Amino acid sequence: MEIRVDGRRISAFAGESLAVALAAEGILHLRASPQAGTPRGMFCMMGVCQECVIRVDGRAVNACQEPVRDGMTVISGTLK
Ligand code: FES
Repeated sequence: MEIRVDGRRISAFAGESLAVALAAEGILHLRASPQAGTPRGMFCMMGVCQECVIRVDGRAVNACQEPVRDGMTVISGTLK
Protein backbone atom coordinates (compact mmCIF):
# COMPACT_ATOMS: atom_id res chain seq x y z
CA MET A 1 0.00 0.00 0.00
CA GLU A 2 0.99 3.62 -0.23
CA ILE A 3 0.87 6.42 2.32
CA ARG A 4 1.71 10.10 1.97
CA VAL A 5 4.19 11.62 4.40
CA ASP A 6 4.88 15.35 4.26
CA GLY A 7 3.71 15.31 0.65
CA ARG A 8 5.92 12.37 -0.29
CA ARG A 9 4.51 8.97 -1.27
CA ILE A 10 6.07 6.01 0.51
CA SER A 11 5.33 2.30 0.37
CA ALA A 12 4.13 0.37 3.40
CA PHE A 13 3.06 -3.17 4.13
CA ALA A 14 -0.33 -4.21 5.45
CA GLY A 15 -0.13 -5.10 9.13
CA GLU A 16 2.83 -2.93 10.04
CA SER A 17 2.65 0.08 12.30
CA LEU A 18 3.09 3.59 10.99
CA ALA A 19 6.25 3.96 13.11
CA VAL A 20 7.85 0.97 11.39
CA ALA A 21 6.85 2.18 7.93
CA LEU A 22 8.37 5.60 8.68
CA ALA A 23 11.57 4.13 10.12
CA ALA A 24 11.99 1.95 7.03
CA GLU A 25 12.07 5.17 5.01
CA GLY A 26 14.51 6.83 7.41
CA ILE A 27 11.87 9.15 8.85
CA LEU A 28 12.71 9.31 12.55
CA HIS A 29 11.72 12.88 13.50
CA LEU A 30 8.07 12.40 14.44
CA ARG A 31 7.33 15.30 16.77
CA ALA A 32 9.11 18.18 18.54
CA SER A 33 9.87 18.55 22.22
CA PRO A 34 7.51 21.03 23.92
CA GLN A 35 10.04 23.57 25.12
CA ALA A 36 13.19 23.40 23.00
CA GLY A 37 11.49 22.13 19.84
CA THR A 38 14.15 19.48 19.40
CA PRO A 39 13.37 16.39 17.32
CA ARG A 40 11.71 13.47 19.06
CA GLY A 41 10.99 9.99 17.78
CA MET A 42 9.90 6.52 18.72
CA PHE A 43 11.30 5.06 21.89
CA CYS A 44 9.20 2.43 23.67
CA MET A 45 7.27 1.11 20.64
CA MET A 46 4.41 0.01 22.91
CA GLY A 47 2.25 3.10 23.36
CA VAL A 48 3.65 4.32 26.67
CA CYS A 49 6.17 7.11 26.13
CA GLN A 50 4.21 9.31 23.67
CA GLU A 51 7.45 10.22 21.89
CA CYS A 52 6.04 9.11 18.57
CA VAL A 53 2.94 11.31 18.48
CA ILE A 54 2.33 12.42 14.92
CA ARG A 55 -0.49 13.92 12.88
CA VAL A 56 -2.44 11.44 10.74
CA ASP A 57 -5.43 12.58 8.72
CA GLY A 58 -5.78 15.55 11.06
CA ARG A 59 -5.61 13.53 14.30
CA ALA A 60 -2.76 13.17 16.78
CA VAL A 61 -1.88 9.47 17.14
CA ASN A 62 0.91 7.31 18.50
CA ALA A 63 2.73 6.14 15.38
CA CYS A 64 3.79 2.91 17.07
CA GLN A 65 0.16 1.96 17.74
CA GLU A 66 -1.33 3.13 14.45
CA PRO A 67 -1.65 0.52 11.70
CA VAL A 68 -0.89 1.80 8.22
CA ARG A 69 -3.85 2.32 5.92
CA ASP A 70 -3.67 2.85 2.21
CA GLY A 71 -3.91 6.56 1.44
CA MET A 72 -3.34 7.84 4.96
CA THR A 73 -1.84 11.33 5.11
CA VAL A 74 0.90 11.96 7.67
CA ILE A 75 2.54 15.21 8.74
CA SER A 76 5.70 14.70 10.76
CA GLY A 77 7.62 16.85 13.19
CA THR A 78 4.98 19.47 13.92
CA LEU A 79 3.27 18.28 17.12
CA LYS A 80 4.79 19.14 20.50
S1 FES B 1 7.20 4.93 20.77
FE1 FES B 1 6.48 5.19 22.79
S2 FES B 1 4.37 5.62 22.54
FE2 FES B 1 5.08 5.20 20.55
